[in-house]
Amino acid sequence: MTLSDEHAAPTAHHPGPQVTVHRAYEVRSDDDLLTVRHAVRAATIECGFGLVDQTRVVTAASELARNAYVHGKGGTLTVELLARPGGSGIRLVIGDEGPGIADVGAALQDGFTTGGGLGHGLGGARRLMDEFHIDTCPGAGTTVTVVRWTSR
Ligand SMILES: Nc1ncnc2c1ncn2[C@@H]1O[C@H](COP(=O)(O)OP(=O)(O)O)[C@@H](O)[C@H]1O
Ligand SMILES: [Mg+2]
Repeated sequence: MTLSDEHAAPTAHHPGPQVTVHRAYEVRSDDDLLTVRHAVRAATIECGFGLVDQTRVVTAASELARNAYVHGKGGTLTVELLARPGGSGIRLVIGDEGPGIADVGAALQDGFTTGGGLGHGLGGARRLMDEFHIDTCPGAGTTVTVVRWTSR
């Protein structure tokens, strides 16, 4: 199942943003989660975000990476810096090959958890970022893609 906040797909006339930096990280341990937080913080600074936006993006990355680790049996995070006319942005892709999410609508609700967590991670990450896209299938894993732009 796919859920996306963005409707406009790139076309020949609107080719989408240019990817200027691409880095990948493993998310398979508590140490990895710490590494990811630092790496995403550094990337937001490179991108030109102020402190408030840095923290928004780091919080979203942290929640999604933790989900991949806790619920998805570990996964990967890619961090991309984006350039488009009028601004720059950061794209995070968090993927795992865990059990997937049977009901994405339910999982996005605040307070919904199957793991004894607080249940604010997925919905929180969606609210913190400008674009949110989730692709998941029971038994076939979960990939969440989020983007934050410096100017909207
Ligand atoms: N990567 C994932 N793989 C499988 N299930 C997930 C994943 N991410 C989230 N979920 C499901 O969505 C629920 C809600 O996630 P979240 O809002 O982060 O809350 P929490 O992690 O505190 O349980 C989780 O309890 C879990 O059932
Ligand atoms: Mg969570």
